[in-house]
Amino acid sequence: MTRALRVRVWRGGREGAFQAYEVPRQDSQTVLDVVTYIQRVLEPDLAYRFACRVGMCGSCAMTVNGVARWTCRTHVAKVVGDGGRLEIAPLAHLPVIKDLATDMSGFFDKWARAKGRFEGTRTRHEDFATVEPASKQRAAADAGIECIGCAVCYASCDVVGRRPDYLGPAALNRAWTLVNDVRDRAGSERLRAVAGDAGCHACHTQGSCTEHCPKQIAPTAGIAGLKRLAGRAAIKG
Ligand code: FES
Repeated sequence: MTRALRVRVWRGGREGAFQAYEVPRQDSQTVLDVVTYIQRVLEPDLAYRFACRVGMCGSCAMTVNGVARWTCRTHVAKVVGDGGRLEIAPLAHLPVIKDLATDMSGFFDKWARAKGRFEGTRTRHEDFATVEPASKQRAAADAGIECIGCAVCYASCDVVGRRPDYLGPAALNRAWTLVNDVRDRAGSERLRAVAGDAGCHACHTQGSCTEHCPKQIAPTAGIAGLKRLAGRAAIKG
């Protein structure tokens, strides 16, 4: 094993450039460990984000050798070749604030545009709603509910890259979970919100979101479900 990693890290904003560093290689080293070493030992002003270090928060997502990943859950050994080369950049399709930190506001604004907020039918004075555990809708909602908003799918989606107004896989997956939540009352309004030109119909079913999601969620399937429901709603008028 090469004992030193040659690491190129994006520095600056949109107009920045890659800068090269040499980082000692360790056993079981993650890409986040590499970034942290650079920040603590070589470049104290390197900007990047992380919180949990255990794949819970999603804030450490970056582009590693061209692929969007959670850096805390990516072992260096998995992504470097024999030459020990590593290239770390901010997530694609999001404005770069500085170095490896991106501005996530546009990403979350799209969740709001897709009506990604639960709107219940009951008040707190009523009993809890019962959701049939074995129902088809429950299964569909459960399949997408574990999304933590890390934007790996968004950064991996070619349509987002071409059409910045496209809602993207994460917001649409959120809409799909809510459309299938029998306790929610904003279904028709939400379908209208995602059926527009920049919504579910813009998806080309390329499947990069599903391929790269670290939580093994399949936004492609949810988006296909939204297309079906939106189509049916349009026919019904
Ligand atoms: Fe929380 Fe990586 S630091 S998922």
